[in-house]
Amino acid sequence: MKYIDAIDYKVEVGGLPQSSFSDYLAQYDKSNKVILVDENTHEHCLSYLITTFEELAQAEVILLPEGEDNKQLEIAFGVWEALTEYRIGRHDLIINLGGGVITDMGGFIASCYKRGVDFINIPTSLLAMVDASIGGKTGVNLGAFKNQIGVFSNPKAVYVDTSFLSTLPELEVLSGIAEMLKHGLISDADLFSRVAEQINNVKSIDSDLLFACIEVKNRVVVQDPLESGVRKTLNFGHTIGHVIEGHYMNTLKLSHGHSIAIGMLLEAFLSVELASLSQEEYLAIHHVITAVYEIPLFTPADIMAMVDMLDNDKKNKGGKILSCLIPKIGKCTFDIEVNKDLFTRAFKAFQS
Ligand SMILES: NC(=O)c1ccc[n+]([C@@H]2O[C@H](COP(=O)([O-])OP(=O)(O)OC[C@H]3O[C@@H](n4cnc5c(N)ncnc54)[C@H](O)[C@@H]3O)[C@@H](O)[C@H]2O)c1
Repeated sequence: MKYIDAIDYKVEVGGLPQSSFSDYLAQYDKSNKVILVDENTHEHCLSYLITTFEELAQAEVILLPEGEDNKQLEIAFGVWEALTEYRIGRHDLIINLGGGVITDMGGFIASCYKRGVDFINIPTSLLAMVDASIGGKTGVNLGAFKNQIGVFSNPKAVYVDTSFLSTLPELEVLSGIAEMLKHGLISDADLFSRVAEQINNVKSIDSDLLFACIEVKNRVVVQDPLESGVRKTLNFGHTIGHVIEGHYMNTLKLSHGHSIAIGMLLEAFLSVELASLSQEEYLAIHHVITAVYEIPLFTPADIMAMVDMLDNDKKNKGGKILSCLIPKIGKCTFDIEVNKDLFTRAFKAFQS
């Protein structure tokens, strides 16, 4: 097992049976336990959990529809009603077993229900393992606006067991790799190169690499839990990536990581102009991203709609759109004002 100290909880990386999970559950032996799953983690992950830990035999299971378009308040509302029906109280435990949609939404549901119930994350997608399950950002989308409603609230523990990856579709592995590329781009050029190599071997994720990415995420979060400064760097690629993900949520249904990969490419394009990223490094990023993440055909109407959505980015201040840019691979700056004309230019540069 490997351990990481997060803000006020631990992230354990290794097989669940060898982890402290069972000891942890002992604290809740008189409490009700609820497991939140989506359709896929219900099918592929739940039986492993409840057959390995008999303490969970009586747990209530709440099944949610899968997918980003279901990360909505209406779904959270249904879960709050179910929790009420099951008489779940403040001293009970919610276990989020799933990808980032389940860990984000489950954390939000637990944090608002009766003003806060303990929750833990057991991430089952690569993206949730290296990013979403750690750091205390929880929430739901509001229509196409990503994570518009939410709170900072930390899990009591995170257990990362990579055996869950055996059933994760390849496209979802690539989605997770996009966030790993981000960890390299913002903090460590060597890590970026190692993750770029991992793209050629999506069937077997290097556990040291996975751990290194969790460390990057956690290191940044611990320095700035509420995102008043350096944590903003974790949003590299997300100013543009989030509007891409939201805009195509009900049509192309691009995965989160796919959207962020395109967002990183366009924000790297802006970094050449506004942050002195060298042409050579820009081309290296372009090469890695375009080899696997297809860029949608942006029509003028798509571009106009997406640029318009930027007005609602959570990092905006005083009416200004503030983005993260990279002066070089491995270094990230934040709170850089980028006007809408420049964003439009970046989209247009990738129109064909
Ligand atoms: N809170 C944060 O700091 C943070 C950071 C990054 C991303 N996010 C959020 O995370 C979400 C994206 O996470 P995601 O990519 O995990 O999405 P997801 O939860 O939708 O999972 C992707 C798909 O994989 C399926 N799946 C998950 N585990 C599986 C398994 N073991 N076997 C088979 N199928 C499995 C899911 O059912 C889903 O269909 C977005 O909503 C994004 O906003 C949050």
